[in-house]
Amino acid sequence: MDGRDLVRSVKTAVGFGGAAQGVRTVRAAWRRGRSDAAGLPRRGAERARVPGSVLEAEPGPGGGVVRFARAELRITVTVDGAVFWGWDGAGPEPSYALVGHAPEPDPRAVLEPDKDGGWRVVAQRVTVAVSQHGAIEVRTPGGVPLRRDLPPRWWEPVSGGGARWMQRSEVAPDARFFGLGGRAAGPRLRDGTYRLWNTDPGRAFGPGDDPLYITMPVQLVVADAGTHLVFHDTSWDGTVTVREGEEGAGSGHDRPGACEVRMDGGPLRCWVVVGAPARVLRVWTSLTGAPALPPAWALGHHHARWGFGSEQEVRRIVAGYQERDLPLDAVHLDIDHYDGHRVFTVDRDRFPKLPVLAEELRRDGIRLVSIVDPAVKAESGNPVHDGGSAVDAFVRDASGRVVEGVVWPGEAVYPDFTQPGVRAWWGGLYRERLEQGFAGFWHDMNEPVSFTAFGEKTLPRSSRHALEGRGGDHREAHNVYGLCMARAAYEGLCDLVPEQRPFLFSRSGWAGMQRYGGTWSGDVATGWPGLRASLSLVLGLGLCGVPYSGPDVGGFDGSPSPELYLRWFQLASYLPLFRTHSSVRAGRREPWEFGAEVLGHARTALAERRRLLPYFITLAHLAHRTGAPYVRPLWWGDPGDRALRDCEDAFLLGDGLLVAPVLEPGVRRRSVPLPRGRWYDTATGEAYQGPGSVVVDAPLGRIPVLARAGAILPVRGADGGLSLEAWAPVRGRTGSGLVVPHAGDGWEEPEIERYGSRWKSGRRVVVRRDGKDGRSEPGRPVLVRGLDGG
Ligand code: GLC
Repeated sequence: MDGRDLVRSVKTAVGFGGAAQGVRTVRAAWRRGRSDAAGLPRRGAERARVPGSVLEAEPGPGGGVVRFARAELRITVTVDGAVFWGWDGAGPEPSYALVGHAPEPDPRAVLEPDKDGGWRVVAQRVTVAVSQHGAIEVRTPGGVPLRRDLPPRWWEPVSGGGARWMQRSEVAPDARFFGLGGRAAGPRLRDGTYRLWNTDPGRAFGPGDDPLYITMPVQLVVADAGTHLVFHDTSWDGTVTVREGEEGAGSGHDRPGACEVRMDGGPLRCWVVVGAPARVLRVWTSLTGAPALPPAWALGHHHARWGFGSEQEVRRIVAGYQERDLPLDAVHLDIDHYDGHRVFTVDRDRFPKLPVLAEELRRDGIRLVSIVDPAVKAESGNPVHDGGSAVDAFVRDASGRVVEGVVWPGEAVYPDFTQPGVRAWWGGLYRERLEQGFAGFWHDMNEPVSFTAFGEKTLPRSSRHALEGRGGDHREAHNVYGLCMARAAYEGLCDLVPEQRPFLFSRSGWAGMQRYGGTWSGDVATGWPGLRASLSLVLGLGLCGVPYSGPDVGGFDGSPSPELYLRWFQLASYLPLFRTHSSVRAGRREPWEFGAEVLGHARTALAERRRLLPYFITLAHLAHRTGAPYVRPLWWGDPGDRALRDCEDAFLLGDGLLVAPVLEPGVRRRSVPLPRGRWYDTATGEAYQGPGSVVVDAPLGRIPVLARAGAILPVRGADGGLSLEAWAPVRGRTGSGLVVPHAGDGWEEPEIERYGSRWKSGRRVVVRRDGKDGRSEPGRPVLVRGLDGG
């Protein structure tokens, strides 16, 4: 860094809040640099290694071990058909991603000799072939290759220590890549390098910003030959470079798709799950944990703002919703309700009676949600700081000093959530939040962030972490910091309020975070590209097993035009987390701030969201039980349809609905690619036949939503009770639908109700409930739609 850089950095830092903060962030940056220089071993000379030639193989449960001249490979196929392999003795555990222990090996999977001196593990759903030099090919039971991993390469420091590694793979020329956590430029991951390092971009982001807050080495690869998920279970910094392949149009010169994973450390171990997308996500979430079930209110509308500033302002906003007859289910309080930005405190001048406010709101069906930042103001006398110090909670550097960073409260220290005792201490702190009346929690700044003036805005890489007693540094702990914080809160809340499911969502996280809660899209930039990025994040995260998320409606910064705000509002009203939020420096986001026309259309969107609440509750339960995200790419049921694979601006909401948001200004009609089957425009009743593309109206008042012929959706009837909306099946065909009725916000798992529909005498559509004793009357009001298109 030269003098000019330094001046620039100080200026940036001063932007965070005055000269004092500027000086602090520069100091933090110097501290960071010094501590890494002293605390990280120099890499020095390295030696490259590849496995070499195969020597022998030894069968074991679910597969076995194949030994090479310079490496050893262990392969296990588990009972649910997932494939695990690890090099050099790496097993599936310990792992931050897995929930509990790795599943049992499949006793039917056998290791046997393959051609050319290789070996293969043959299982019911997959064959894994290992070549003589250590290439690994995953094939369908029919023998079609899905991916081929070339022999890996390690670089080992000559003076000892952990290796870096690189793994190149090939996939089919027609394959598309998805996943890698929340990526703004997706959901289809185009050619490029994606970094695996959770990052706060430090400003509102758009599609060009990568990486963001949640990265994870989870890829979903979709090709004609089949779909598979691949997970490199290593939390270290790394990159994934993908390059889509190209078909030679019969010339015989196909170029395969390519993927290269490079990691700065950690074990080289990998999980692969093959099958239809629904099966892949089911197995993936059985490995990493069932998505937490949000309470019903969290599936309604949330309103947040950084800078409500007082209880009066919160009341004013709530009254604004009520006076205008706009449904509202939750209000979120940001850091400005803290006392001097200190976590787990309240500014009593401006929020003197928070529990009373919370109780009043709750009577009106509105919950309060609190932001929780991990960094604790470094000052003695602050009970959270002193309590944490007493249990040695805060991250230290290699020399044993507590690491200080700079966040909203100024100089701050960071709990080491990779230590079980620290999680237990932190989890107990939520008691204070519960006593204030909060019903849900919004974890922020947990990449974790430190406002250093230059370089990476996080903890020094040399910072020490417990890593569950194994010990290690921030290079390994960084990406799982948010995940472990979520675990601390989740487990704490389960202890504090055992009868209630916790509700939390977190800006940062890693593979497996869904078992504690969801996320939101972070500080998305206000603008049409930001709107598009918000959908990309929700879709990509859903395919990584994290189904509950949504954007800041209207974008985080600036002021959206009325049209942009409305289109954002309309899109988010069909996403799991439907929340308006913005920066203290941004324009307002209340629906009445954009003129009468927007207000009317926003009211329509809110009313429709409320009408669809039973459908969202059902989708939440299905996500919890099967891992299927609420928001799915159009190819979910037809992964072989290439046009659907390339569609990035529409999605399926469950099995029944197809939502086609408007992501550009001035658009009043748009084309929608349809999966196979008949689809009804829910606004006009017009029927369309898929597969193929159709053009539908998208007036300012609504975005196109199509219903699948035969779908049976649970909706809220006019009397507030649950009714069924049945879309006529194609004549001669039948329809079906699943309904999970709301049974409170506790742990009870209500029974799934199954319904079927069919044409009777060619004139009417009848709906019946399928039960153990056959079919019966549905027992719920039914509205049949789509009869005219039949
Ligand atoms: C971060 C969060 C944002 C929040 C702000 C203040 O930028 O992403 O949602 O409003 O911090 O707490």
